[in-house]
Amino acid sequence: MQICVIGAGYVGLVTATCFAEMGNQVVCVERDPQRVAMLSRGEVPIYEPGLETMLKAQLAGGQLSFTSQLKAGIRRAEVIFIAVGTPSGEDGSADLSHVLAVADELGERLDHACLVVDKSTVPVGTAERVAQHINAGLARREQRARVIVASNPEFLKEGSAVEDFMRPDRVIVGCDEERGRELLRRLYAPFLRNHERLLCMSVRAAEFSKYAANAFLATKISFINEMAGICARLGVDIEEVRRGIGSDRRIGTHFIYAGCGYGGSCFPKDVKALIRTAEHEGIEPGILRAVEARNALQKTLLFQALREHFNGHLQGRVVALWGLAFKPGTDDLREAPSLVLLDALLTAGAKVQACDPAATAAVAARYAAAVEAGQLMLSESPYAVAQGADALVLVTEWKQFRQPDFPRIRGAMRMPVLFDGRNIYDADQLAELGFLYRGIGRPA
Ligand code: UGA
Repeated sequence: MQICVIGAGYVGLVTATCFAEMGNQVVCVERDPQRVAMLSRGEVPIYEPGLETMLKAQLAGGQLSFTSQLKAGIRRAEVIFIAVGTPSGEDGSADLSHVLAVADELGERLDHACLVVDKSTVPVGTAERVAQHINAGLARREQRARVIVASNPEFLKEGSAVEDFMRPDRVIVGCDEERGRELLRRLYAPFLRNHERLLCMSVRAAEFSKYAANAFLATKISFINEMAGICARLGVDIEEVRRGIGSDRRIGTHFIYAGCGYGGSCFPKDVKALIRTAEHEGIEPGILRAVEARNALQKTLLFQALREHFNGHLQGRVVALWGLAFKPGTDDLREAPSLVLLDALLTAGAKVQACDPAATAAVAARYAAAVEAGQLMLSESPYAVAQGADALVLVTEWKQFRQPDFPRIRGAMRMPVLFDGRNIYDADQLAELGFLYRGIGRPA
């Protein structure tokens, strides 16, 4: 099939590359010419395992190309995906200006019948607005091409996006016209051996499903984090409780890991946007507000624990920090719990020695003044940052941190104290190795 993907951000790039991999002819339109030049050379500006190799192969094979010209990109497209950003507006609702600008441009340029698909996470009613914008442009030009608009939200996780796209749990197709549904069914058939996993529904239901899925996952996390808080007081280990409840299939084992809070570009933004939608409809979103509040609190817990440990005196203390990205497998710092901790530590006068396999460059740019002043040291070696530390804090559970040489770490630290923000270590084993260990929702 001839496909055009508009937007070479994280979603657009993965979508374009994976459709090309499945034998479609894909043109990806990106308005930033420098990004187009980079991508055309096979350089991928985001960190996503497996993406660069696949993209290079598809470029070389001629299945995938990049352009900054929308007109050239859509010329032969049967399906056009809109995968541009929907950042949070000032009031937390989704800012649709990029999506609607693309719709306007499509209205100005389209001259053939095609299917336009919203891939970006957009509030209910957006597909209708996109259709209005496109049709207004077509009508002005007296262009009779018939355009169908559908919603096909993505459920990719950063760090495993290629795998998620190639082997999806389900694909949601929201389209009110059979012809549009049929095109998307054909396009996704090779990704879904089991056709029951392609779910067709109304456009509005598809748009809402995306928000409901992310809000539910965020709720699971905030719920377990609240349980962890109660457990800690009662001398109960949340890790035992997690296993105890997760084995009930109605609850499930996923997304019930207590930790120092969720981050990323999706959960925080989508929960906020859904709150605004509910308010707009006169519904009090009490659960969603609690999910947000619990997460904000959760991000402060590691700092509170450190402050207590040092009796309120962090000035001059050396704190080693493992993991800066909001989760393993990405260099993305958006809404990362590490930033809340880092800000608080720097403000309190601590010296921070931080390590991350992918995100140190971004942190160096963001905290240039602290790096310059010698208050923040960055390294890719977990051992280098443990040197002389009064405490070590695990924030992001990268594989590299799972089984370190603890005797070596202990030897390097001034004080063997470990705060485990993701509960990945065995508390008893660390105690045996001479560490003072503190987890989230685990008895001291
Ligand atoms: C999330 C969803 O999982 C995807 O399905 C969705 O497509 C995507 O948002 C999106 O809307 O684009 P992502 O933000 O990449 O994906 O990351 P997740 O793997 O879901 O992790 C989010 C955060 O939750 C991380 O900070 C992680 O550390 C935290 N988390 C996750 C927990 O604290 N506990 C858990 O049990 C699971």
